[in-house]
Amino acid sequence: MEILHVSFECYPVAKVGGLADVVGALPRYQQQLGHIAKVVMPMHRTKFLYEHEWEVVHKGSFKMGKRAIDFTIIKETNNSLGFDLYCVDIYGLLDREKVYNYDDDTDRFLAFQISVTEWLAQWHHHPDVIHVHDHHTALIPFMLQHCFGYCHLAQIPTILTIHNGEYQGWMSWQRGGEIPAWDTWNWGLLDWDDTINSLASGIKCAYRVNTVSSNYMTELMESSKGLQHLFQMEAAKCSGILNGIDYEVWNPETDTLILDNYSIKDVNQGKNLNKKKLCDDYGFETTKPLFIFIGRLVGEKAADLLAPAVSEALNLPNADFNFLVLGSGEKSTEAALDQLKDAHVGFCNAQFGYNEKLSHQMYAGADFILMPSRVEPCGLNQMYAMRYGTIPVVRKTGGLADTVIDYEDENGYGITFLQASVNDIAQAIHRSIILYRNKSKFLELRKLIMKLDWSWEKSAIKYIELYTK
Ligand code: ADP
Ligand code: GLC
Repeated sequence: MEILHVSFECYPVAKVGGLADVVGALPRYQQQLGHIAKVVMPMHRTKFLYEHEWEVVHKGSFKMGKRAIDFTIIKETNNSLGFDLYCVDIYGLLDREKVYNYDDDTDRFLAFQISVTEWLAQWHHHPDVIHVHDHHTALIPFMLQHCFGYCHLAQIPTILTIHNGEYQGWMSWQRGGEIPAWDTWNWGLLDWDDTINSLASGIKCAYRVNTVSSNYMTELMESSKGLQHLFQMEAAKCSGILNGIDYEVWNPETDTLILDNYSIKDVNQGKNLNKKKLCDDYGFETTKPLFIFIGRLVGEKAADLLAPAVSEALNLPNADFNFLVLGSGEKSTEAALDQLKDAHVGFCNAQFGYNEKLSHQMYAGADFILMPSRVEPCGLNQMYAMRYGTIPVVRKTGGLADTVIDYEDENGYGITFLQASVNDIAQAIHRSIILYRNKSKFLELRKLIMKLDWSWEKSAIKYIELYTK
């Protein structure tokens, strides 16, 4: 089967979060199953672009409203990711250093999608499936089926994977004319609540829709920023497939970014050495349990609750722990974490910005990872952490609820809590400290979580089954 993935991010080319990890790994696992998987993404100006060789495979142009746009498709010559990687270059629009957060993001998403569809229209054969990821690419199923210029592509099956339903790609109807000439009788397939809603359009037009955990699909049917009724109506084609993690990148035995490699056999020694490095770097004592948070400092991750919750936990009797955060995002949250760090020198520290190497060192050196997310469609951090023997402390939501069972429940191995609230987080930290002091139980769980299987193999097969349907 030949699959074309269309995504705005792909690790290691350009990464903001887990979407990149998934699109960087799933195609490789699909290739290993004997399929042909290709990825097309924007040509962002990242390090990867300059460090690899490229060849031009297509040049084209189109009108987006009144604006004439020229685009070039380049292909990475050496297939260094293990699959064909194509990038869309649009001078002045896509060739930028950051992936998102520009005033003209809507233009960028639209121009990228039109370029991909224009290019596809020139292919001498058709891929068997087009797999689009998130709202940035979710207009493609509509365009293939209802734009006059692409009617020969209308029969190609499309899959939409929703990694995050919080962002839906809303556009005013004034932009309707920027989509290549389309059959206006079908305006309802673009519309939700009187605006063009890219994600809603993808849900209506894609052959199949899936989320990155089963529980998240159930949650979206109950509440999804206004789309819950749409999910309910389209329930027959909706399902959940849990993400896997890339066992080649995330492996404590071979990870070149960590200080000391270890396996389940020498995990205690390996983690102690990695922990010592972190503690030396951040002014902590190694005897105390070390909690980490890694991620975007935004409301979805409940990052705003970290500083007050850690502060409250430190005030609980017998609470003696260290907390290290790595992330970037809302300025008010960064400021609160900075204050926490100053108020608790020797206990709390924070590193702002994006740092792949430090993230690996933290998964390896920590005792617990804290994930109080308000919304977590899948969550990869808890799975990376478990692979490195770091116990997850998570709110029971989305994919976190599908991957972590509380250690006091049957077959459990982590710590879970119900509310994204200061009190629940502080209590969960407190329970973790009690577990840490019960050395035999703590070390038993550490080994148990390293044995759990989060590899892509099972999920890659589920995607092939979905395409086959
Ligand atoms: P999301 O995609 O919602 O941000 P995920 O848990 O799916 O959350 O994936 C987050 C990914 O981004 C993980 O690979 C995590 O290690 C990485 N990550 C997030 N923030 C940072 C950061 N500041 N530095 C390095 N890696 C980060
Ligand atoms: C999104 C979600 C995250 C998920 C990731 C990969 O960014 O927020 O929960 O793990 O996509 O699917």
